[in-house]
Amino acid sequence: MALTPNAPFQLGDLPEDMKILRKALRETLHDIPDAPADGSERRILNLACGRADETGVLADIFGGDNRLEIVGADIRAAEIEEARLRWKAPSHGDIYTRFHVEDGKRFLDAMSSNERFNLTFMRHQNFWNNPKLWARMFEGGLRQLGEDGLFVITSYFDVEHELACRKLETLGAVKVADHRNLDSRALADAPGKSVDRHIAVFRKPPSGTPGW
Ligand SMILES: C[S@@+](CC[C@H](N)C(=O)[O-])C[C@H]1O[C@@H](n2cnc3c(N)ncnc32)[C@H](O)[C@@H]1O
Repeated sequence: MALTPNAPFQLGDLPEDMKILRKALRETLHDIPDAPADGSERRILNLACGRADETGVLADIFGGDNRLEIVGADIRAAEIEEARLRWKAPSHGDIYTRFHVEDGKRFLDAMSSNERFNLTFMRHQNFWNNPKLWARMFEGGLRQLGEDGLFVITSYFDVEHELACRKLETLGAVKVADHRNLDSRALADAPGKSVDRHIAVFRKPPSGTPGW
């Protein structure tokens, strides 16, 4: 499903980063059986989304053909304001976007347990920086997934990716893909880090898993 930004990206590298992310997501999802198929309403939850630059890519890759709702949340107000301006969808269309300025834990705590998403996305997750907070967001994001939903993270560097994957697996999530994005743009001021360097895909814990 195509979603066109209302405002151009201000950082010069972003259009190319989005192209690379789109390709890497396609490659990552390629071998996943039952990856979201076209035909029904889709809901995407983008946690700690910042400016949500990837909204158009998510609509394209996961949007399907029918109604699409993208719900984002981040604690930073300026970034969310930018996301709202860029991705406000036309009211007559079939795409709806909502971006909330909210602490991720509070946001998830306030969400009805009946709300279901097809995809929880966390680009450049930050688990290593605050394991308690991010573990809560991981758990909440998994809980809000439908049975066939996918939980997708991307990471800037190797160790943080390993730590996040390990935590998700400890929570009971099942890893179904892990992709090293060789096209990812290196960050000149941060050796060993690059944009969307790793992408991993999980499914929620199988029913019958204790606590689920
Ligand atoms: C590494 S940045 C990634 C931002 C965005 N997903 C991206 O890839 O550009 C981590 C994000 O986590 C957000 N964040 C930090 N603490 C948070 C919290 N308690 N609740 C929600 N978001 C939080 C930050 O504001 C920041 O946007």
